[in-house]
Amino acid sequence: MNILTISGSLRANSFNTGLLRTAELLGVEGVTFTHANIRSIPLFDADLEVASMPEAVAVLKQQIGDADGVLIATPEYNYSYTGVLKNALDWVSRGPIRPLIDKPVAVIGASPGNFGTVRAQTDLRRLLHGMAAQVLPKPELLVNQAASKFDENVILTDEATLKIYRTLLDNFSKYIHVIATLRH
Ligand SMILES: Cc1cc2nc3c(=O)[nH]c(=O)nc-3n(C[C@H](O)[C@H](O)[C@H](O)COP(=O)(O)O)c2cc1C
Repeated sequence: MNILTISGSLRANSFNTGLLRTAELLGVEGVTFTHANIRSIPLFDADLEVASMPEAVAVLKQQIGDADGVLIATPEYNYSYTGVLKNALDWVSRGPIRPLIDKPVAVIGASPGNFGTVRAQTDLRRLLHGMAAQVLPKPELLVNQAASKFDENVILTDEATLKIYRTLLDNFSKYIHVIATLRH
């Protein structure tokens, strides 16, 4: 089973990108990870969409289509998810091929503040619902006080949080199986 990861942060030392890299180290049986990069996705422009789908968008759509599930880690910017993530998802929602429809998606996030991206995740779940993705309901992984929970290589080290993360990935792989069974 392959899970595509998408980080809503472009920052080199991003906690959210680090959270996604940590997933690989948890060694969930039968699960491999591929990391998408949304940096080169242009700003959404309906004229560009008519002319031809940009290459970076086509690549992301293909990656999502090929994946069994998608794991998105988002920072919280001004009580919501990031603009770069919204922009990428808006592109993915357009055109004849819409790979997020019925795709299992899990949402996680990390913030140096106290609320661990709860508002960003709530908004992102609503957006994904509008795109007809199948969003994993529980558990929620809200990493607050991130500066104290990652090491110098931006790998999550906080044991209590790692325990929830393992459960989330385990549940997500089961959820992907259930959705696949229902679709056939
Ligand atoms: C424009 C902007 C708005 C922000 N707003 C919030 C916010 O509403 N809540 C929060 O917890 N952190 C907020 N932050 C701080 C981010 O959580 C912090 O920069 C975090 O490290 C970003 O995630 P990253 O490490 O994955 O890049 C904001 C940061 C920026 C740049």
